[in-house]
Amino acid sequence: MAGRLQDKVALITGAGQGIGEAIARAFVAEGARVVVAERNAETGQRIANEIGALFVGCDVTVQADIEAAVTAADQRFGRIDVLVNNAGANVFHRPLEMPRSEWARCMALDLEAAWAMSEAVLPGMRKRGAGSIINIASTHGFKIIPHTFPYPVAKHGLIGLTRSLGIEFAAEGIRVNAIAPGYIETEIARAYWAGFPDPEAERKRAMAIHPPGRIGRPEEVAMTAVFLASDEAPFINAETIVIDGGRSALYHD
Ligand SMILES: NC(=O)c1ccc[n+]([C@@H]2O[C@H](COP(=O)([O-])OP(=O)(O)OC[C@H]3O[C@@H](n4cnc5c(N)ncnc54)[C@H](O)[C@@H]3O)[C@@H](O)[C@H]2O)c1
Repeated sequence: MAGRLQDKVALITGAGQGIGEAIARAFVAEGARVVVAERNAETGQRIANEIGALFVGCDVTVQADIEAAVTAADQRFGRIDVLVNNAGANVFHRPLEMPRSEWARCMALDLEAAWAMSEAVLPGMRKRGAGSIINIASTHGFKIIPHTFPYPVAKHGLIGLTRSLGIEFAAEGIRVNAIAPGYIETEIARAYWAGFPDPEAERKRAMAIHPPGRIGRPEEVAMTAVFLASDEAPFINAETIVIDGGRSALYHD
């Protein structure tokens, strides 16, 4: 039986672990041909080998790496149908205690890289009159937790980028959407809990503040990415889908 992404070519950034890895696995399971564009050669190569994807070493904040990744994908598969801008990192500070270099690091990775990758794949998508770009934003793209500056600034910007590019290229058959995950159980979350005197208590607290009594799983973000990348979402454009178990609909935490 054909998969929901049968023969689509998808380039996924930061797919060496966490949410990006889950997206890469789900895409391959649905018949896509996947390019793992990852800065960490060890994890990126391992995941690519495991799922039969093409690994390309790529730091998404380096223009030459972006161009090399897109060229490698084109050479192997002839096109890129789907771009998933997933690579990102928490950059959390109190604003006035933040070195200016941290602002630049955050904007380069969590915002500008998504534009630079899009800029590199859009000409091919326009030529074919088809394409889907999916940006992994965050619930930090709507709401603010104190002392997480400037990550939410970048994620608000990423949602703005999604809406802007979605409108610019809609008439050319290209859709640009975002996913805004809430609290998802990845290495980042586990490392965060490990920083507390009682990591298990902090983990339980995280579960308890979510209406379903648990946090999200990377596979649940991946399922939405499959949907947005597929032909099941042809009229969904310039939209952001929140995946947080309803937490952001709560009046109070
Ligand atoms: N985990 C969460 O709870 C959560 C919630 C909301 C949004 N997000 C977003 O989801 C995305 C993935 O997060 P995650 O939790 O899976 O993180 P993660 O740290 O587990 O994985 C991020 C991956 O991106 C790679 N990466 C980092 N910088 C890179 C660069 N410059 N070039 C190429 N690759 C790079 C890392 O090597 C890693 O493999 C991020 O954009 C993050 O902001 C995560």
